[in-house]
Amino acid sequence: MLILGIESSCDETGIALYDSAAGLLSHALHSQVAMHAEYGGVVPELASRDHIRRVVPLLREALGLSGKSLDDVDAVAYTRGPGLSGALLVGCAFAEALALAIDKPTIPVHHLEGHLLSPLLSRDPPTFPFVALLVSGGHTQLMKVTGVGEYELLGETLDDAAGEAFDKSAKLLGLPYPGGALLSKLAEAGTPGVYELPRPMLHSGDLNFSFSGLKTAVLTLVREHAEAMTDEFKANAARAFQEAMVDVLLKKALKAMKQTGLQQLVVAGGVGANKQLRSTLDLEAKRKRFRVYYPELEFCTDNGAMIALAGALRLQAGTPPKEAGIFSVQPRW
Ligand code: KG4
Ligand code: ZN
Repeated sequence: MLILGIESSCDETGIALYDSAAGLLSHALHSQVAMHAEYGGVVPELASRDHIRRVVPLLREALGLSGKSLDDVDAVAYTRGPGLSGALLVGCAFAEALALAIDKPTIPVHHLEGHLLSPLLSRDPPTFPFVALLVSGGHTQLMKVTGVGEYELLGETLDDAAGEAFDKSAKLLGLPYPGGALLSKLAEAGTPGVYELPRPMLHSGDLNFSFSGLKTAVLTLVREHAEAMTDEFKANAARAFQEAMVDVLLKKALKAMKQTGLQQLVVAGGVGANKQLRSTLDLEAKRKRFRVYYPELEFCTDNGAMIALAGALRLQAGTPPKEAGIFSVQPRW
């Protein structure tokens, strides 16, 4: 089965071709980050318009790289939600119309399922069951994954997502949008322990998270140093933020491993690209004798490959595809 995957839930347009026997054949991606940077965040209307401009050239690129033609495609998978409604509608309308034209069914995919399964695109993939730590710009969840479509929510954030906290703290430190990766670079130059920031809900006894207090603590720190926002201060503050964030994610992930008794941890979503998070988890995994899996760096953030993969696995698992031509998105799925 050859699955075409389309992602357009936020500010990345991604198109990919996944073959259930041969694996990922090709993927093409366009990021709108530079376009939104001057506004300090994603502007939904601009995002939708840019997706419209990109879908056809990206489809041509993905087909060209794979050596396949539209006639070879067996089903079209696309992100149905959650995300920005206008942005989702572009991918949905394009996917449904394309599938109608080639007389093939569609597979609407949950964006987070795409992130969750993305480590399976690696050469050395995890096997079911595993614990998943999903840390993106919109979500922070711990899940027990026993198979495709078999997800048990163990805990989640009660307010801000981890990526959101990274981005908001970065903004407070004067970094451009989206600041997560930039804050993490800045943190590398900082000294640990100069500032001590709170680790919200570390001892809550459950697997839930809360990051809005951490962000407020960064705001307070910035206000206290408003007179002298030196590069050294910013680096140390970034370091303190990252130390607190990584500590909370680590401790909760360890608790989930203990609670489930599973041996594999999968880390997915944009924050999974964070170097300090990766090295800390790797170290603890060695000590506690479990394995950690990450998606390839290029598949940590939004992309079409994870949507094509999720579509293919859904079909394999027996989820029936949908007749093409019905347009419906679920922005708050
Ligand atoms: O998964 P993703 O691409 O989009 C959502 O579905 O939300 O995640 C984007 C988030 C942003 O908040 C971004 O700042 C964060 O991932 N991010 C990082 C790093 N790279 C991306 N956060 C911390 N360290 C990084 N290296
Ligand atoms: Zn995402």
